[in-house]
Amino acid sequence: MKILNKLILLLTLFFSATGIAWSAGGGSSDLDKHVGKVHIQLSNNASLQRGAKYFTNYCLSCHSAEHSRYKRVASDLGIPEDKMIENLIFTGKKFGDLMTVAMKREDAQKWFLGVAPPDLSTHTRVIGPQAVYEFLMTFYIDDSRPFGVNNLYLNNTAMPHVLADLQGLQRGEFHMEADANGIEHKEFSQFELIQPGSLSEDEYKQVVTDIVNFLVYLSEPARLVRAKVGTGVLLFLAFFGVIAYFLKKNYWQDVH
Ligand code: HEC
Repeated sequence: MKILNKLILLLTLFFSATGIAWSAGGGSSDLDKHVGKVHIQLSNNASLQRGAKYFTNYCLSCHSAEHSRYKRVASDLGIPEDKMIENLIFTGKKFGDLMTVAMKREDAQKWFLGVAPPDLSTHTRVIGPQAVYEFLMTFYIDDSRPFGVNNLYLNNTAMPHVLADLQGLQRGEFHMEADANGIEHKEFSQFELIQPGSLSEDEYKQVVTDIVNFLVYLSEPARLVRAKVGTGVLLFLAFFGVIAYFLKKNYWQDVH
């Protein structure tokens, strides 16, 4: 019995630890206080489908997802071929093609202040979902920057605020704060929406969540398959457990 208790404790610890690591993964120290935490839900197919639409419409012109094919995404997320071709595939690409961008790396570097947009399927795995969420949530007006915006998560970023028509434009308010050694530095206080976009704050958060959700799927498509197989295995075990229980009862009934 003691061993069983220990095993249950170990399993609980393991699952809560991996859960915590995943939800908190990446991101800078305390930006979540201002923009919240992203909730990844790979079982939410509607969110993944919306994310795929936003990604191909708003991101794929600069960022590739070189390890994925449109066809695979369509079949994983249950998007019919004609819908995929009509709404998600641009620039003369074919259904079976990889999700690459037409832009050459050197050109991209020239256009974007020397930084080429990273491949988002691999990059999301590196920086984690919370970081991508914070990046897309914290663009603010800064006239000293070439694209007129700066970013709290990635200071002096070379990426323009491509979702500005949805979120609108916000101003960042800062104050001076002294650290433990009495040295003053600029600290972020809050955002103020200066020019509203087409979406409310909650709607915009949902759009960003859908995009990040899709990027998490894209960074490891096998995760969806694993989750499905895992559910099947658990169902089988539960079903087999019931059978085993009645079998045991049946075998032992003459002994007692
Ligand atoms: C107009 C081109 C362009 C578009 C469109 C674009 N990006 Fe970017 N993105 C960039 C560039 C350039 C960088 C490199 C920025 C840097 O390092 O300062 C970048 C960097 C990033 C990063 C990496 C941040 C980091 O931690 O290094 C993420 C994540 C990202 N983009 C997400 C997105 C998403 C999601 C979309 C679609 C909603 C998108 N981008 C659309 C140009 C673009």
